[in-house]
Amino acid sequence: MAETDFDVIVIGAGPGGYVAAIRAAQLGLKTACVESRETLGGTCLNVGCIPSKALLHGSELFDEAAHGTMAKFGVIAKDVSLDLDAMMGEKMTAVKELTGGIEFLFKKNKVTWIKGKGSFVDASTIKVDGKDYTAKDIVIATGSSVTPLPGVEVDNDGGVIVDSTGALKLPKVPEHMVVIGGGVIGLELGSVWRRLGARVTVVEFLDKLLPGMDDDVRKEAAKVFKKQGLELKLSTKVTGATVKDGKATLTIEPSAGGDAETMEADAVLVAIGRRPNTDGLNLEAIGLETNQRGQIEIDHDFATKVEGVWAIGDCVPGLMLAHKAEDEGLAVAENIAGEVGIVNHAVIPTVVYTMPEFAGVGMTEAAAKEAGHTVKSFKFPMMANSRAKTNREPDGFVKIIADAETDRVLGAWIIASLAGTMIAQVAQAMEFGATSEDIAYTCHAHPTHSEAVKEAAMGVKGLPIHI
Ligand code: FAD
Ligand code: NAI
Repeated sequence: MAETDFDVIVIGAGPGGYVAAIRAAQLGLKTACVESRETLGGTCLNVGCIPSKALLHGSELFDEAAHGTMAKFGVIAKDVSLDLDAMMGEKMTAVKELTGGIEFLFKKNKVTWIKGKGSFVDASTIKVDGKDYTAKDIVIATGSSVTPLPGVEVDNDGGVIVDSTGALKLPKVPEHMVVIGGGVIGLELGSVWRRLGARVTVVEFLDKLLPGMDDDVRKEAAKVFKKQGLELKLSTKVTGATVKDGKATLTIEPSAGGDAETMEADAVLVAIGRRPNTDGLNLEAIGLETNQRGQIEIDHDFATKVEGVWAIGDCVPGLMLAHKAEDEGLAVAENIAGEVGIVNHAVIPTVVYTMPEFAGVGMTEAAAKEAGHTVKSFKFPMMANSRAKTNREPDGFVKIIADAETDRVLGAWIIASLAGTMIAQVAQAMEFGATSEDIAYTCHAHPTHSEAVKEAAMGVKGLPIHI
């Protein structure tokens, strides 16, 4: 191949793309990253993981101060009030610090940021703002954006109907927010606005919340969120919306069909999933087609069927999660550099950052049975965990699923205040091929929430202590 401008060009600077670019540069490759946003970090840092977690944290603090949790422990906060602008300001500061941090890391690692929208000219040339840049290898890491709902038009700039980007910057607490979609975004952002004082109704097409999670977790989710005051309309779909004088009128009907009714709201959050960003890449120029879901198909090494073109993150099949994209970013750069980059897609944790958190890794019980395993599982309630009980965090459980013959851990599902942290130990155990006995005989510090993981593993053998 003739001399190229770069060894590697990465398109997109989200968790997948920026990590791929930094690792490629660390491995000695001359690297550029094309990003059209004004700041680096992609969906996750700008309008996803980070701002949503800032608001989840802020709204939890408000909820604890205003609604009694602190008072129970004798901390009396009088006249608690909400300064929404200050909360939004803290969120923006976190986003600014973290996106600025990626810019610093690009400079430190000598990754060139090409600002603008990239599209293919051929398999080794990307056009950005009318200028061509060449590279031996090109990584597509263009991420995803919100799936639109026909008949429900989103206006994130001050409109009543918003998607997650708009719901992260509402100028005031709505009186009634309707969330369309009882998945991860709907429950996280619905929780934020519920805690800040809104009445929140979640309209979900399926008969349970949180698709993809273990059935026991999904059943419990409905109880937990109802207890917190979220109104749930399951097995229901939204078929249209009109907006007038700052109010939306939604038409809803049973998912299976039936009589329609209307519902009013002064804020509507559309959160029915995300779809890959591939429009505008001019994939036709390199003969690369997307699959039925609009995703770019790849092999085990993240290579597309076009030589020298790779793809990672939300724009390829699999879970749409930042840490999955990051691990794929590392692996693709290592593969391009001639090393061996692998991601074990069977062990990717998922966490919903509500309070309590919902987390899982590996197979659900149903999936394990479907895969031909004879399964043994045990659910240890957080009520029986001394630390959770002491902290007055009674909701949830740890469920461990193991193969009945080999005892190998196949999956774990946790509802607990610290589920997102607790799931990491099960993920690591699964990476090492652990049995439930391995976890049960690992000494866990007392008193910690993680002891519930040990007890669940002991329960798989039939011998838990504290229940
Ligand atoms: P993205 O982060 O989407 O980045 C792709 C980048 O490519 C974008 O910046 C885009 O501008 C750029 N781009 C696209 N096309 C072009 C082009 N042609 N030229 C130049 N640039 C281009 N995941 C978690 O794991 N944990 C969470 O807590 C979490 N919270 C979330 C909360 C919300 C509200 C949302 C919406 C998502 C959340 N996610 C979370 C999902 C997470 O954000 C994504 O899985 C992750 O960002 C995917 O990374 P990516 O690199 O594949 O793509
Ligand atoms: P989702 O796939 O999690 O949930 C969408 C929900 O909408 C589903 O339950 C689906 O049944 C429902 N739905 C679809 N059409 C509907 C309709 N017409 N009416 C009513 N309900 C309908 O998608 P979500 O919440 O938009 O999140 C997108 C992605 O972003 C997730 O898949 C996740 O990967 C990522 N994300 C991850 C987070 C985390 O890791 N904590 C936080 C936020 C997002």
